[in-house]
Amino acid sequence: MCGIFGLITNKKELPIAKLIREGLERLEYRGYDSAGIAIVNKGKIELRKNAGRIADINKEGWFDAMEGDFGMGHTRWATHGPPNAQNSHPHLDGADKIAVVHNGILENFMELREELITRGHSFKSDTDTEVFPVLIKEFLDSGMALKEAVVATINKCKGAYGIVVCHADTPDTMIVARKESPLTIGITPGETTYCASDIPAFLPLTRMAYILDDDEIAVLNPGKVAIFDVIKGNKIEREPITVEWSIDAAAKVLDGKEYKWFMHKELHEVPRKVREQVNVPQENIDDFVKTILDAEHVYITAAGTAFYACLAGKFQMTRFGGPFMTPIECSEFKDHLPKMPKNSCVITVSQSGETADTIEAVRYAREKFGAKICSVVNVVGSSLTRYSDHVLITTAGPEIAVASQKAYCTQVTALSVVALRIAEIQGKMSQEEIDKYREALIATADVGDVILKREDAIKAVAQIISKKINFFFLGRGLSMAAAYEGALKLKEISYNHAEAYPAGESKHGPIALINEGYPVVFVAPPDETYDRLIGNIMEMKSRGATIISVVADFDERVTEISDYTLRVPIENNKYAIAMSIVPFTFPLQIMAYFASDHNGLDPDKPRNLAKSVTVK
Ligand code: G6P
Repeated sequence: MCGIFGLITNKKELPIAKLIREGLERLEYRGYDSAGIAIVNKGKIELRKNAGRIADINKEGWFDAMEGDFGMGHTRWATHGPPNAQNSHPHLDGADKIAVVHNGILENFMELREELITRGHSFKSDTDTEVFPVLIKEFLDSGMALKEAVVATINKCKGAYGIVVCHADTPDTMIVARKESPLTIGITPGETTYCASDIPAFLPLTRMAYILDDDEIAVLNPGKVAIFDVIKGNKIEREPITVEWSIDAAAKVLDGKEYKWFMHKELHEVPRKVREQVNVPQENIDDFVKTILDAEHVYITAAGTAFYACLAGKFQMTRFGGPFMTPIECSEFKDHLPKMPKNSCVITVSQSGETADTIEAVRYAREKFGAKICSVVNVVGSSLTRYSDHVLITTAGPEIAVASQKAYCTQVTALSVVALRIAEIQGKMSQEEIDKYREALIATADVGDVILKREDAIKAVAQIISKKINFFFLGRGLSMAAAYEGALKLKEISYNHAEAYPAGESKHGPIALINEGYPVVFVAPPDETYDRLIGNIMEMKSRGATIISVVADFDERVTEISDYTLRVPIENNKYAIAMSIVPFTFPLQIMAYFASDHNGLDPDKPRNLAKSVTVK
């Protein structure tokens, strides 16, 4: 969590503060409790920071008016200390010469802070971060140069960090370092160097990037980068990468149409992204599949929406001949598995590739038990890709809205492609059959297009139900993945309390809450669960529940007993039905979006959430 953006240039005419502020706005999805900028101006550090969102803080151009030579900014998701001005980053040393921004959590900061206090230092904030500038100052005072002082400081720190450091008396130099928190560097050779928590933050400015690895430090000068290994001390020669992503992602415009929110724009990207996902040649899919098939024990893990993509993917992979897989939320992984058997494989799914719990689970499985890691990741070059044996890249592209949707749809699609490849390699199904399933998977993109064309019908239902306080989302089998995702989306962006439950299980407790008008959403594809689900709908209906169902266009029986339906234009054949998990989830994501908008909320930046959760 937290977004970092820094800039150092020899093009003195550049509006440095404005560029930093704009870079931070592109990172606001990582946290928006407070924001701050520090700029080095003629041997002094100018610091401005406050609680709230960047646009509010900068209302009168407060950030943009800052002047100076180079600097850095931070947008915060509070961990240590409430979101007030004092706890906002950047933090300075006692002499106001060193500024630091930090993303991550220092585990031993209490110890370090107490040590520093006994040596006469004082602290202005409650944060873990403030020990960085104070420690750096101590090492500088002992005669070290800035880079060596930063290395000595991080050697004393336990935990995760991506940091940027600048010193008022060290012109044209910024130092960045990382361990378990993301940090990327952008460069316009000979002119300007940027650093940021992710690549899209500097994409409008340059496409040339370096990705810093754990235990690396880099010295940034205008248009120049030197990377060093913190442990070995040697310089690392690394070629920059050229980023292909489109910068359109940074604007709420798609096909010339301006959207009110990123979430709405990104929902409209889903069909094309699903289409790209099915067609993208994944070079190593066979190695990915073989690793799963060769393992004796297979686990599948992720966080949030990505975990629900795992549930859908697990179902499909097993259905098409893959092994049984144990799904575990990555935050529970270590606690659930004090021991892992030999020859295990862990499949993991992540949009950012930086979720701390996911990385922890993967490193635990790999480093302690030698498990093989197969990852489905959206961000190329992210930490997760480096801890994996095999990686499938999703085609969602940059996703700005905090609540994931197009990433979910491409993740499920990618895992469905894996499922079909499993069927091919296992050879138990005819190629003709597999091809029909594949065609049905490709057709889900067209189904998405039609759902979007008819989104006003979903909007109408969303507006009717948006003020209800509590919801159940019920399904059976594969549809549970959609029920969980639908409930999560509604609660996270529209703040309605929504709980997903297996429909059959709902009579063991949840049904006690049902009274007149209680909204219950059923995911009702015409698959093998259909008849039993109708029984569950009747149980709820006879107790007065308002029934909202996601049904196939050709559905009649569930439609008849529902108050409202969200209709999915799939074909009536077993192939289309088996591959329809994305089409049956998509209307629920759209409904949540319209409920949020109707309730006057900000669907892009929901309260207390962050897109990339880089703390455990
Ligand atoms: C946060 C985001 C979710 C996301 C989850 C996992 O909770 O708000 O949208 O699903 O993290 O993130 P990942 O980047 O690992 O997919």
